Amino acid sequence: MTFPTHVTIIEVGPRDGLQNEKKFVPTDVKIEFIRLLKEAGISEIELTSFVSPTWVPQMKDASEIVNAFSPHASREMVLVPNQKGLDKVFNTTCQAVALFIGVSDSFNQKNINKTTKESIEVLLPLVKQLKEKDMFIRTCISTSFYCPYEGKIDENKTIDLCSHFVEAGVHELSIADTIGMANPRDVFSLFSKLKKAFPHVLLNAHFHDTRGMAMANIYAALQAGINRFDSSAGGLGGCPFAKGATGNVATEDIVFMFHEMGIQTNIDEQKLLKAVSYIAPHISRPIDSKQFLLLQSNKNIVAK
Ligand code: HMG
Ligand code: MG
Repeated sequence: MTFPTHVTIIEVGPRDGLQNEKKFVPTDVKIEFIRLLKEAGISEIELTSFVSPTWVPQMKDASEIVNAFSPHASREMVLVPNQKGLDKVFNTTCQAVALFIGVSDSFNQKNINKTTKESIEVLLPLVKQLKEKDMFIRTCISTSFYCPYEGKIDENKTIDLCSHFVEAGVHELSIADTIGMANPRDVFSLFSKLKKAFPHVLLNAHFHDTRGMAMANIYAALQAGINRFDSSAGGLGGCPFAKGATGNVATEDIVFMFHEMGIQTNIDEQKLLKAVSYIAPHISRPIDSKQFLLLQSNKNIVAK
């Protein structure tokens, strides 16, 4: 078995992690959380979302968050669903955008009030504008494996949706298991096909850990040649419009696994746990990542 010597972690905690929090997390707390994550070595990150504050009140301070980190590193991303969001991004110094769309119509309707086809029509002109400005473009493909409303998704449907964005020239596809239903077989199969179909696009795996399968799915994605992984510090997260969605796989747990496997991430585990400890009192549920629980119980006693 060959593994990469290095993988890239894309931290989604400040965005996916916080968007589902009902109680508003103060802007200065979000900024300090991001600062600590960057201090831990995170270089690619989703900072926030430019979405409707009526739909997702937690993200209403997007401009303040983004402006706090200006000028931006090239992969500090913000989520955008439409022209209005993109216009707001163009008023900042942000250099990277993540568009998002669901394979399943039912989820897409609930998430962005459009069918998947309608969303493609909204998003492709945004890709064109972003390319003209030479900005980094990722597209998050939700419900790539399962939809909470439609069940199992045919992998050809996911590949077909991806092809619209690859042809338009996006740099990265983030393939999401929105409700944590995928299993390692699904993951190996879809990622192997995507790698073959789109050899020149960055492919990223975004796993929610609802049923405890994210680690196994990451291993399956590694076997399929994937070396980019989304994760969320503290395992926070979930889409407010995906019934039953819970947190992303925890950054500290996957960083630990990669380091133990001899795979580098350029992330400092202790500093990462400092960021998790910082955000813990500001969120509504206890952090239950393995590394954080070990830290808290002071039982991480294995000699190294
Ligand atoms: P709509 O109601 O159809 O849109 O919502 P609208 O055009 O009628 O606008 C409604 C209001 O929102 C108007 O304001 C607009 O100005 C405003 P009002 O006149 O009522 O005061 N508005 C905006 N404000 C700020 N930024 C914008 C924006 N657009 C409109 N960009 C809309 C459509 C897309 C806006 C809405 O459905 C929405 O914001 N949805 C966001 C949902 C969301 O953020 N979901 C979570 C992120 S996706 C995710 O978590 C999945 C992922 O992690 C991968 C995975 O795990 O699957 C990425
Ligand atoms: Mg997500």
